[in-house]
Amino acid sequence: MRAIHLQLNGQPASFELRPGTTALDALRDQLAITTPKRGCQPEGSCGCCAVLWNGRPKLACLRRAEALEGVSVVTHAGLPEAERAILARAFVDAAGLQCGFCTPGFAIRVKGLLDKHSDPDEVRIRRALDGHLCRCTGYGGIVKAVQRAASAWPDGQLEPTGTDPAVGGSLARYRGRDLVLGQRPYVADLALPDMLHGALRLSDHPRARVLAIDVAPAEAMPGVRVVMTAVDVWGQRHLGLVEPDWPVLVAPGETTSCIGDVLAIVAADDEPAARRAAAAIRVDYEVLPPVCSPEDALAEGAPGVHESRPNLAGTTVVRRGDVDRALAASAHVLTERFTTQRVEHAYLEPECCLAVPQPDGGLRLHTQGQGVHDDRRQVADALGLDPDRVHVVLEPNGGGFGGKEDLSCQAHAALLAVRTKRPVRLELTREQSVLLSPKRHPLVMDYTVGCDDRGRLTAVRARIVGDTGGHLSVGTKVLERAAGHACGPYRVPAVDVEALTVYTNNPPSGAFRGFGVNQVAFAMEGMLDRLAERLGLDGYDIRERNVLDPGDRFATGQRMDSGTGIRRTLEAVREVYKRAPKAGIACGLKNTGMGNGVADVGRTLIEVDGPDHLTVYTGFTEMGQGLLTVLQQVVCHETGIAPGRVDVVVSTDRPVECGMTTASRATMLASEATRRAAVELSRALTDSRLDELVGRSFAGEFVCDFTSAPGEGGDDAVTHVAFGFATQVVLLDEQGRLERVVAAHDVGRVMNRAGCVGQIEGAIVMGLGFALTEDLPCDGGVPRSVKLRDMGLLRAAHVPAIEVRLIEVPEPHTRYGVKGVGEIGLVPTAPAVAEALYRFDGIRRTSLPMRDSPAAQAVLPRRLRSDPPSAG
Ligand code: FES
Repeated sequence: MRAIHLQLNGQPASFELRPGTTALDALRDQLAITTPKRGCQPEGSCGCCAVLWNGRPKLACLRRAEALEGVSVVTHAGLPEAERAILARAFVDAAGLQCGFCTPGFAIRVKGLLDKHSDPDEVRIRRALDGHLCRCTGYGGIVKAVQRAASAWPDGQLEPTGTDPAVGGSLARYRGRDLVLGQRPYVADLALPDMLHGALRLSDHPRARVLAIDVAPAEAMPGVRVVMTAVDVWGQRHLGLVEPDWPVLVAPGETTSCIGDVLAIVAADDEPAARRAAAAIRVDYEVLPPVCSPEDALAEGAPGVHESRPNLAGTTVVRRGDVDRALAASAHVLTERFTTQRVEHAYLEPECCLAVPQPDGGLRLHTQGQGVHDDRRQVADALGLDPDRVHVVLEPNGGGFGGKEDLSCQAHAALLAVRTKRPVRLELTREQSVLLSPKRHPLVMDYTVGCDDRGRLTAVRARIVGDTGGHLSVGTKVLERAAGHACGPYRVPAVDVEALTVYTNNPPSGAFRGFGVNQVAFAMEGMLDRLAERLGLDGYDIRERNVLDPGDRFATGQRMDSGTGIRRTLEAVREVYKRAPKAGIACGLKNTGMGNGVADVGRTLIEVDGPDHLTVYTGFTEMGQGLLTVLQQVVCHETGIAPGRVDVVVSTDRPVECGMTTASRATMLASEATRRAAVELSRALTDSRLDELVGRSFAGEFVCDFTSAPGEGGDDAVTHVAFGFATQVVLLDEQGRLERVVAAHDVGRVMNRAGCVGQIEGAIVMGLGFALTEDLPCDGGVPRSVKLRDMGLLRAAHVPAIEVRLIEVPEPHTRYGVKGVGEIGLVPTAPAVAEALYRFDGIRRTSLPMRDSPAAQAVLPRRLRSDPPSAG
């Protein structure tokens, strides 16, 4: 085998060339340099693998491993200490990172930029960042970080700014420095002695009967330790968050439901060997025609996507008042159909799991799932183990947005580890991640809306159909949420909504930031704009006449409480909208907490585990939203203890089960539970010093178990514990391009100002992509492209100025009054863009993405410009 020699961070290094590997593979897997991340290899789209290659920023995944011969490679570890300090301080203080997966790559790019330009302007900065994607921040914080770094580059000092630990301050992100410098490992960065590497063999067809799986060619390959198929699963083979319809492995004789179904798994000595072996497995199929749309799936005689389940997976009905009578009595009634597209989450960290067998026969899982306890339950089912024998630790999560709620490869890694009795790390490729993971539901929405002669809404009838793909995931819950939010933040006396969840052979749809609410907001806000035009009103005035006030009833019948701040958000952008004749305006609300009859629980345990140290345990996932920082702040705020003495851990090893980080609920539930625990600790500190409390622990719990399911609860219905509210205005320039977004958000209570603004900015940018460019069209159940560069993701230079105006109308159930902000940020965005475009060119657009619009054409790469808008 050939040896390759290079300079690595100033030192000679060498490795044995493995066939078919990239420079990134060699750096990570053979030279143990994990700061450059594998985000989209071999595509070169995300920028996460940037290194200094002979002094210039280059993407290591685009280069063959042999190209490293004679090259000088510098990563973060090789930068001068002063530059490392500036980069870390600048990114952390400017809130230039959230999940942090993209950040080391950006930092290398910034180093290259500042070495060439000491004082780059914003246009130059955004252009320099063009080869990088960030799915979390919306880029605003990153641009500020570059500007801040420039002020001290290369050897100055930056004074820390994110030091205020009080609730409402902008305490710097928990362990942010380590994330910027790539020193905080993600799951794929972990390696253990004796560790094997796993790989998946996916189906070649979205709908095909599997006749036979021949693993012999794979088993015969060098380095392969085990190949497993469905017959080797000794526990429960079908898993799922709502329904057990998702096979860990599809068995011969069964029919695949989507292209991402797994047929076999391999463990081998290294990753290339595992992947080669997975590809060598021979599968015989009887290929069947796929069911590609809900319409086809619901047609008489349609084949079943699942042999034992109807294609109609669920129906949600929300009904109040007499809609027929209300429409008949209305001064104006309009009807319209709206469609929205399938969208890929495109978190930059592909799914990965490390499973480690324990001496007692149990298992330890290192994961980035959105619910450590749900991961534990499902993996334990697959292994036939008591859940107490499965321990799950959350490593940093490189973005989730809902897409990591379902299991991806955790059960496969666990099966391989138990079978081989060795640690197994299993990392999906970007292609596998796209094929296997759930997407945003494409919806078809038929709306009929009436109002009186003053523009006051009288009735809404909506028929909504959602394509949940080959597996349910949480599809029925998404459509339930869409139905409940179908009337937006408005007072509607008569409501008749039906939402259907339908199986097809498309990739699965599941949770995705907004959870069905973005789609119905596009429709409902569009109806308001059409009614306003009919009446000669503007977008502000019709909303002002209809927004919910405390005491009004939400669509589900819930009476709004004192925490209803939608009117305040509307008023906060009045002048911006009224002064701009080409602006679009839209409102939105989004539930905090799952509600709908499901108990929402927050649990925290604070342990005094050293004379000068506390650890806060929570069951909620940190996926970039800043939860761990907020919990650190709560403890510091209530006890006066300095943040450097407080660590926060997400684990199943303590009794802190509280379910998924989902439904914008973690900050509200966890901060109240943590506050309660911290108050107990604070009381104990009145009689004792901290070092006298070593070994003591303080528990906090917050339970909301009073909500009712849609259609239940009668006059006392309370479907959700709280809501977040927002109004956004989108302004276009003279050419119809995005110019500015002004977003007023009622967040209840600002917990961490920089983090809160960053969450909203990031969500708005995702919302702009949803409105204009993002799409994952499928042909015959197969994505047309699995490449990030074809998905219409916005880059730094595409993003307009964003101004966030924070409003605090506290929700009444918790002491702080905080509401979730994780999802609401993109609820009003698409309809505000649509209305701005209408006022620009007079075209009423009813389908997303609006790729035909001047705003989209200005940012889409040429090869995507001719694509027609797709309803998936
Ligand atoms: Fe950039 Fe998460 S912080 S992708």
